[in-house]
Amino acid sequence: MDKKYYLPELPYKLNALEPFMSEEQLTLHYKKHHQKYIDNANLKFDTFNVGGVILHNLFWGNLMPPLEKENKPDGVLAQALIDDFESFEKFKEEFSKAAESLQGSGWVALFYEKTANRLLIGQIKNHNFDIYPNATIIMVLDVWEHAYYVDYKNDRAKYIAAFWKALSWTEVNTRYQQL
Ligand SMILES: [Fe+2]
Repeated sequence: MDKKYYLPELPYKLNALEPFMSEEQLTLHYKKHHQKYIDNANLKFDTFNVGGVILHNLFWGNLMPPLEKENKPDGVLAQALIDDFESFEKFKEEFSKAAESLQGSGWVALFYEKTANRLLIGQIKNHNFDIYPNATIIMVLDVWEHAYYVDYKNDRAKYIAAFWKALSWTEVNTRYQQL
């Protein structure tokens, strides 16, 4: 290991997330913003850029080409979401609310919290994700303006609504089961 960060390969083509995310938006976000966090994290190990690298890695990994039909989780994760949020719809509503209400730049994440063996939704300011000491992120949504401005201008709610079609529940389920 050379102790460096690298831009991860995307598991899909740059135009594969359309219409959720255009090729132009994804290219800018991935090749410019994500790359810049990587370059800076490799220069000096300040938490800001390291957080930016890790969160973007998680984000690209939990996206997929958007589905036409309804996109729902299954298996153990589906049951865990019902146990901790009453229903899948309620979870979606709470997660969307957290994403819409985040002030300024940041992320919204689904965490698995070990102490109580439960799933939690949390907001992450900027890239500073040290909010639950005993928790692991299993799903993230980037709500920095750089994530959606090309496609949605200032309409963050529209971007969040489109995100649910392009969320890879398979990946989130895998992360959940690997804990
Ligand atoms: Fe981003």
